Amino acid sequence: MKTEILKGTKGINKGAKIIKNGGIVAFPTETVYGLGANAFDDDAVHKIFEAKGRPSDNPLIVHVARKKDILKVASDITPCAQKLADAFMPGPITLVLNKRVEIGDAVTAGLNTVGIRCPSNKIARKFIGKCKVPIAAPSANASTRISPTEASHVFEDMNGKIPLIIDGGSSDVGIESTVVSLVNDEAVILRPGYITSEQIAEVLGSCKDFQGQIINSAPAPGMKYKHYAPLVETVIGDGVTALEEIYKNNTDKEPVIICYEKTAEILRKNKDLNYNIISLGNSDKIVAKKIFSTMRYAEKKYRMIIIEYFKETKLAESVMNRILKSAGNKVF
Ligand code: TXA
Ligand code: MG
Repeated sequence: MKTEILKGTKGINKGAKIIKNGGIVAFPTETVYGLGANAFDDDAVHKIFEAKGRPSDNPLIVHVARKKDILKVASDITPCAQKLADAFMPGPITLVLNKRVEIGDAVTAGLNTVGIRCPSNKIARKFIGKCKVPIAAPSANASTRISPTEASHVFEDMNGKIPLIIDGGSSDVGIESTVVSLVNDEAVILRPGYITSEQIAEVLGSCKDFQGQIINSAPAPGMKYKHYAPLVETVIGDGVTALEEIYKNNTDKEPVIICYEKTAEILRKNKDLNYNIISLGNSDKIVAKKIFSTMRYAEKKYRMIIIEYFKETKLAESVMNRILKSAGNKVF
């Protein structure tokens, strides 16, 4: 199969046609690119699992073009869910609610609940609107790989496996949505993301936080799998001394350090080692936006990736939730 990459209206129109014919299409969102199918068509949804090599017990998020379409997917919307929808949708949040019968087992992996997301990305919303059905979509990477934030990342993983990638440039947020369960009408974070537990607690008064993630008994089904794995050895260094130490012990692997600019400034002073450094600036928003594309770049150019333990804000914790998986929890 030839994989086409199309921008703008051309991409949206062709994509909607493919979805109507039971096919799958990659499309941009503000978080990461998704790989979508008609959420009411289990046969179409199976194609997503096949293309990604995704375990079938990991449920998909269903995307809607407008907030009011939540009830096409969920059987009911709880008061707390309504408040979160009002506060954060469209945007990078996924609400887990009881599902409607029309949403099949392929989407929910047999659960009675379903994750629903209304993206803010304009192309995503136009595309989903044009499809006229809710769109089930995981991130558009091959299973276990780094989530894609550019059309070219999707192409790397999916060339020959899907007919079309709608190109919407770089994703603004850069990490996946916050997944929040509201089935008991209280917020429980199943996967941390751009919207933090603090922001949710501001709206609801409280929010349960599962961020102390124990990989094997993590709350969102998907959290238990190997994830975000770069092609080269990846480790985390907590602080400048640790970063320098790891680098010195591995110079034969031509490593690169991915870090805050303020850390880069200190490292650059060590002229002896002349470190390979990629600075992501000092803002966690930029770190989140650039982290996945930087890892995809670094794995092609270097044989070892050393990542700083980002810790400035609550958003850094969400970034680290991904990076810890990339590094198999190897922190020095
Ligand atoms: O930002 C995002 O959420 C992106 C874009 C494309 O929307 N999508 C995404 O999908 O990250 P995926 O499949 O890579 O991750 C979905 C996560 C998984 O951890 C999955 O287990 C969890 O959401 N999930 C989905 N439905 C669920 C449900 N009914 N109950 C609990 N967790 C659920
Ligand atoms: Mg994913």
